[in-house]
Amino acid sequence: MTHQLHPLEVNPKTGEPFLRLPAPHQNIIITPPRQGDQSVLTQHMNDPAIYEWIEGPPVPYLPEHADFWIQLVKDESDAALEYLRKNDEYFQNGPLQFVDVSPVRHLREVKENGADVLIGDVNFRRSPFEEILDEVERKRLQRENADKQTGDSTIQYAVGDWLAASHHGKGIMTAAIGLLMSAWAIPRMGACHVVAHTFAGNIGSNRVFEKNGFANRGLFDNGKTVRGEKKVLNLLEWKRDQA
Ligand SMILES: CC(C)(COP(=O)(O)OP(=O)(O)OC[C@H]1O[C@@H](n2cnc3c(N)ncnc32)[C@H](O)[C@@H]1OP(=O)(O)O)[C@@H](O)C(=O)NCCC(=O)NCCS
Repeated sequence: MTHQLHPLEVNPKTGEPFLRLPAPHQNIIITPPRQGDQSVLTQHMNDPAIYEWIEGPPVPYLPEHADFWIQLVKDESDAALEYLRKNDEYFQNGPLQFVDVSPVRHLREVKENGADVLIGDVNFRRSPFEEILDEVERKRLQRENADKQTGDSTIQYAVGDWLAASHHGKGIMTAAIGLLMSAWAIPRMGACHVVAHTFAGNIGSNRVFEKNGFANRGLFDNGKTVRGEKKVLNLLEWKRDQA
C-alpha cells in the first residue's frame, strides 16, 4: 500500500519510491539516498565547480565525510518513509500526512541499460535565517522555527542543491526544483515559505530559483566566512500566497 507516498511512484523491482522529471528530462529520477552513493558523491564534492558555491562540504572531501553524510541523509529519508508507511498500515486511505523533509532528493540519470548514476541533490530543511543580520535574533528565529509542528504553514524552509558539472546548463535543476516544490514540498510538507541563500555571483543558481517563482531579494552581508573566505549572500524567497 502506497497511498501515503502520493504522488511518488514506486519502482516495482526494488520498492524504491521516486519522482520522474518531466520531458525532456524524463531519464532523470529523484530517489532517496542509498548506501553506495558515497564514491560518486565524493567525486562531485571535490569538484570546485560545485564546492565553491556551497557551504557544507569539507574540502578536501574524504570517504569518511561521505559515509557520515549518506548515513545521515538516508536515516532522515528512511524515517519519513517509515512514518508514511505506518500511517498507511494503521489508517487505510486516511488523510495524507505532512512530513518535514522530502524523502526523495538524489537526482539520478537512468541509462539505457536501466542502471542509474547519481548526478545531484536537492534538499529542504528548516531555515537557518541567514538573512537576519543580528546573530542573537537569527538564533532565536532558528529555534522558534525549528520548534514548529510539522505542517505548520508559518515554517520557513530553506532549499539547497547541487548538480554534476557535466550536466549544468541544460535546465535540469530548474525542472527538479519545480517538481519537488509542486509534487512534494507544497502538498506533502505544507510548505508556504521557502528561501534559498546563494553566494553572491551564483547567477545560475539565482536563475533556477527565479524561474521557479522565487523573488530575488538581493544581497546581504551577515559576516559569514566559508572555508576562510568572506561570503556575501543573496536571498531568494518564495511565498505561497504570492505565487
Ligand atoms: C546552480 C546549479 C544547481 C544550476 O543547475 P543547472 O541544471 O545547471 O541550472 P539550469 O540549467 O536549470 O538553469 C541555469 C540558468 O542559469 C543561467 N546561467 C548559468 N550560468 C550563468 C551565468 N554565468 N550567467 C548568466 N546566466 C547563467 C542559465 O542560462 C540558465 O538560465 P536560462 O534558462 O534562463 O538560460 C548548478 O550549476 C550547480 O550545481 N552549481 C554548483 C553548486 C551550486 O551552486 N548549488 C547551488 C547553491 S545555492
